[in-house]
Amino acid sequence: MASHAQTTERPEDLTSAEASSESSEFTPNKVLMDLMKCTPSAEDKLPDGSPARIDRPEAVDAINAIMKKEFPGIDFAKIYGGLLDDRELGRYERGEVHWPSEYRRTAMRIFFGVDTDKKLGFSRRRLALQPVLDPQQLNREDGSEAAESAGGAAVQALTGSRPAAAHRGRSRTVDASTAHPARVYDYWLGGKDNFAVDRAFADTLTTKFPWVPTAARSNRDFRVRAVEAVAAAGVRQFLDIGTGLPAPGNTHEVAQRITPQARVLYVDNDPMVGVHQRALMTGSREGRTDYVEADIRQPRLIFDDPALANTLDLREPVCLVLAAVLHFIPDLAEAQRIVRALLDPLPSGSFLIVSHGTPDFVTPQEAAEYERMYTAGEAIARTRTKDEIATFFTDLDILDPGYVAVSEWRPADESDKRPKPHDVSLYGVVGRVR
Ligand SMILES: C[S@@+](CC[C@H](N)C(=O)[O-])C[C@H]1O[C@@H](n2cnc3c(N)ncnc32)[C@H](O)[C@@H]1O
Repeated sequence: MASHAQTTERPEDLTSAEASSESSEFTPNKVLMDLMKCTPSAEDKLPDGSPARIDRPEAVDAINAIMKKEFPGIDFAKIYGGLLDDRELGRYERGEVHWPSEYRRTAMRIFFGVDTDKKLGFSRRRLALQPVLDPQQLNREDGSEAAESAGGAAVQALTGSRPAAAHRGRSRTVDASTAHPARVYDYWLGGKDNFAVDRAFADTLTTKFPWVPTAARSNRDFRVRAVEAVAAAGVRQFLDIGTGLPAPGNTHEVAQRITPQARVLYVDNDPMVGVHQRALMTGSREGRTDYVEADIRQPRLIFDDPALANTLDLREPVCLVLAAVLHFIPDLAEAQRIVRALLDPLPSGSFLIVSHGTPDFVTPQEAAEYERMYTAGEAIARTRTKDEIATFFTDLDILDPGYVAVSEWRPADESDKRPKPHDVSLYGVVGRVR
């Protein structure tokens, strides 16, 4: 499929650009550059009769003037990104920024006379589904030195530790130009391992749904209580996929408090989590922890990684922890296949812990607004109903209290001060493999 870098369409012929926008990641924003040449204010003609390219400073001034006019109440000096500058517009042209702020996109649409962000060359999906791992790299099994990526090297340089096998050859560098779930979540939890783009993205959602940081904390607390319950039931092995950035209550800390011999294999596909992997590896002397950078959509790569065999004994029960990660798999059938493929190798007596975003606890208006934001790439979790989430637990025995909001799952705080289901909007469920 042609990418923007190869197309030559003018603004009046953007259909092919729209069709190809999914493939245009990481390519210079040719569409925007073409628009710069053809904007109505670029009246001067070059000697060959073609329209002169509008100056960046001129475009920046005009876009900023439109921003101020369209959003009169906004103090741009105080918000992330603020007014546009020449350097930033250059980054848009080079395709380094996939999803500028709503204010900037609106002003640019007006300035360039187009009705969609795609026609500016910005793809909503880039932000919503930013692939942290390149699928071609994911399929590479050899882990050879030649395949060793800059990301793996960066981890090594930053942590002094050798990247895990799945990490070698697959990791990409930390990308500070697009929002990533682990860093957005870290921001909501009050962490410091996030970039401006993550905070801006997170703030867009919290402007509409102010309770989201509460939901993040409740999710984390649910995972702690669920891991405690499973460890107390005698399970000593945990496979935690979609680990997140290290924060108080990491799975190994919780499990090893109950069983010092507990072993935990962490898996995440965000290179930033890999950078902090050492913090996940400081378990008890008796126990063991390891980290694999891999994508949940590749269960075989996870099970084939030597770190798994070194950490977990699949003849003994394992607790599979999928906390707030399945909702990043938009397709339900794919999410079901993933869960099946992850559970299949685990013996009877294993457990599955899932937390998952849901529209079930909010008003229809809120659900509709969330859906709009999800479609616009302003939210990244594909929420699911109780019945959909239940399909992950086919043939498992569900532990009490069943399918409830994360804050209602065996709450530590029995008072009515704990967050309401509406304010967490995540189901927390634990099942046992028969
Ligand atoms: C909201 S955080 C949840 C962190 C942790 N499980 C918790 O509940 O506290 C979601 C995590 O899933 C990871 N993630 C998202 N998509 C993933 C994928 N396809 N494969 C592996 N990890 C993924 C993100 O990088 C992020 O660290």
